[in-house]
Amino acid sequence: MKILVTGGAGYIGSHTCVELLNAGYEIIVVDNLSNSKQESLKRVRQITGKSLSFYKADILDSTALNEIFIENKIEAVIHFAGFKAVGESVNFPLAYYHNNVTGTMRLCEAMTKHGVKRMVFSSSATVYGNPVSVPISEDDPVGATNPYGRTKQIIENMLGDLQVSDPEWNVALLRYFNPIGAHESGLIGEDPNGIPNNLIPYISQVAIGKLNELKVFGKDYQTKDGTGVRDYIHVVDLAAGHVKALEKLLGSTGIQTYNLGTGKGHSVLDMVGAFEKAAGKKIPCCFVERRPGDIDISYANPAKAQRELGWRASKGIIEMCEDTWRWQSYNPEGYITHKLHYITSANTVVNYEESL
Ligand code: NAD
Ligand code: WQD
Repeated sequence: MKILVTGGAGYIGSHTCVELLNAGYEIIVVDNLSNSKQESLKRVRQITGKSLSFYKADILDSTALNEIFIENKIEAVIHFAGFKAVGESVNFPLAYYHNNVTGTMRLCEAMTKHGVKRMVFSSSATVYGNPVSVPISEDDPVGATNPYGRTKQIIENMLGDLQVSDPEWNVALLRYFNPIGAHESGLIGEDPNGIPNNLIPYISQVAIGKLNELKVFGKDYQTKDGTGVRDYIHVVDLAAGHVKALEKLLGSTGIQTYNLGTGKGHSVLDMVGAFEKAAGKKIPCCFVERRPGDIDISYANPAKAQRELGWRASKGIIEMCEDTWRWQSYNPEGYITHKLHYITSANTVVNYEESL
């Protein structure tokens, strides 16, 4: 069964490709590589020993999408493609609305045209804004506080309206909490551009010596140690959640929202401690002012996903940090082909190129 994965070369997309291939699905990736490298897909192939099709194309390009749907009998779409940086979305809101909202419209138009009506969509816990209480349940009020989050809310509403207009549509809105970690092989992981915005990629670059110290944003939050608390989820657990959501879509119609989180909250200092343990290194830290827009505490009630999808996160924060550290130490510069430690001959490289 063929699944179209938009944004499949990215961080969460590449891990989901591994899980989909391991579960026996055929996959077609469409990605414009605006925030990723094709190398990630070569490594997906190396991990799984299976091939996939790749189209370097933009989801805003209706002509390209049309061709992809004509060339492949696609049964469902897992839709990751989008911009995701909160701060950037504040500075460039139109770019975010265009890429995320218009991009999803183009994709839905192409799906409608070709009679493909199943979608798993990457939403975010950011739609809850400042939560009224924790743990956060799916029917708690939403109210994103930044343009990025509002694009996710708009898309959720748009997909809801589409499903009402045509009940044959079947949609899963997955609200991820804080995805971190990497595949246990150390071959794929998060490869941020420039100085990371997010906590774990930042800590990881301190540990490898690229950055001097972690700046802990705020020490007076209403939490056990004064630092912000989040629900960190291993990206491989998250990827497995997509396979479960897809299985559900194949057997029913409607629209459902699921929190994908562990249900546990960890502070910034907890994560520093876990990373120090995993890497066997001290992470120098200093406290600075709060980062504007940050909230005290966020963690999921994941009971609905457990009940309806039969999915539950299984990996703890030490494993998340160990896997991040393995990825970081094997790939200090991210996806740079000449640094690959595991490629043993020129022929092997040629074969990867040919397979895509
Ligand atoms: P990512 O940037 O690594 O992956 C997104 C991929 O989409 C990239 O490969 C990028 O090149 C591609 N892309 C972007 N715009 C495109 C377009 N117009 N056409 C084709 N390809 C395009 O990000 P990620 O962390 O893997 O996130 C995947 C999805 O999950 C995003 O929609 C993001 O908003 C959402 N999400 C991420 C997080 C997180 O913390 N990483 C949390 C919640 C939700
Ligand atoms: C975690 C904690 C910071 C960096 C973001 C997006 C959200 C979602 C996931 C896409 C907070 C603290 C961080 C640093 C620090 N992405 N921190 N020093 O803000 O919970 O969520 O990623 O949908 O939309 O907003 O994650 O990793 O940035 O921060 O002290 O250098 O770490 O204050 O308490 P966040 P994060």
